[in-house]
Amino acid sequence: MSRSAILPLTFALVLAGTAAQAAGVTVAIACGSVGAEQAQCQEGAKEWEAKTGNTVKVVAAPQSTSDQLALYQQILSAGSSDIDVFQIDVVWPGILGSHFIDLKPYVDQATIDQHFPNIIKGLSRGDQLLALPWFTDAGLLYYRQDLLDKYKLKVPETWDQLTETAKTIQDGERKDGNDRFFGFVFQGRSYEGLTCNALEWIASFGGGTIVGPDGKITVNTPQAAKALDLAASWVGTIAPDGVLNYMEEDARGVFQSGNAAFMRNWPYAHGLVDAGDSPVKGKVGVAALPKGDGEGARSAATLGGWNLAVSKYSAHPKEAADLAAFLTGKDEQKRRAIAGAFQTTIPALYEDPDVLKAQPFFATLKTAFDGALARPSAITGERYNEVSTLFWNAVHNTLSKQGDGATNLAQLQKDLNRLSRGGRW
Ligand code: GLC
Repeated sequence: MSRSAILPLTFALVLAGTAAQAAGVTVAIACGSVGAEQAQCQEGAKEWEAKTGNTVKVVAAPQSTSDQLALYQQILSAGSSDIDVFQIDVVWPGILGSHFIDLKPYVDQATIDQHFPNIIKGLSRGDQLLALPWFTDAGLLYYRQDLLDKYKLKVPETWDQLTETAKTIQDGERKDGNDRFFGFVFQGRSYEGLTCNALEWIASFGGGTIVGPDGKITVNTPQAAKALDLAASWVGTIAPDGVLNYMEEDARGVFQSGNAAFMRNWPYAHGLVDAGDSPVKGKVGVAALPKGDGEGARSAATLGGWNLAVSKYSAHPKEAADLAAFLTGKDEQKRRAIAGAFQTTIPALYEDPDVLKAQPFFATLKTAFDGALARPSAITGERYNEVSTLFWNAVHNTLSKQGDGATNLAQLQKDLNRLSRGGRW
């Protein structure tokens, strides 16, 4: 092609770009980066760009929710307009809420009412709606059906059964030549994910929820200590020592490469461990997490989830709210449920035949969601992250064998008492 043939083409492209920009504004959204989150956020953003003529800048958040929180606190407390839409964790409204606009004037009531009412309640302050629900989460047990069949074992229903089953499979697989094989992987690093895991262990033994709905500190119980001691016994036996540094994606990496019998993770992992190129595709089952034992024993799943909020410092609140409403809307949630197993916040989609065909395990997820255990973020408000940090440190110390459950929980109770001036949050 001659130089003169190329030039007009280049010029036309530049012009097209300028025309699109002139017609619209640029909205920046900070999206999570666990699993397929970035790719799926980009995909949805592209559709909104095509529909509105605006441009979206997708900013990648750090993987750890705790690191994200620290970063967003900095950005927002500086009053920066760099990011218009924030993907916020379900436990953050009390911490960051004052930096977000009320979305009520931008979204009609029917759109709000299509979501689980409990999630909307958690995102509301009085009459104001601080964020729109994007996807929810509940902890699940992933297991290797092929290995349970190989060793003629059943899906464990209690943590003791899990401990034994994981050990049997681990011993067998190592004997068969895989010395990198482990029985169980989970999120054991010092961060919010460990709070989620440990809350499940403790609640499954009937050991409380750290802080009760009335503000009372409920974590220093014999059942809670028992749960933590059991979890500590896994580290270096059925779980690698490295689990003390695992987040969601570390656990998924081990499980997906075929090197673990069980994994605790959120629903998104299903979209990846069972996808086309996964070495364990077709071999994975999903069940409720095991129960503890003793009085009050039950299966407990921590409630997680992510929502979209618009910064008060945004230069384009109208467009930003429109992007948030588009991404959290029914069509986009359906697309994301099918493409990435993101657990929808819209109850009607749990009966959608296309969703159920792509993600048959969604049929059980609605029940997991209904019974899911909230972290004590509502009662502890802006101090939730301090509470959670004290909690995950006490748990991490126990898992690292620096003190047993009872000792670390007694200390935690003192620390929480001091922080709350005796439970007055
Ligand atoms: C998931 C949950 C979120 C939780 C986080 C912990 O992303 O949805 O609520 O805080 O995991 O790692």
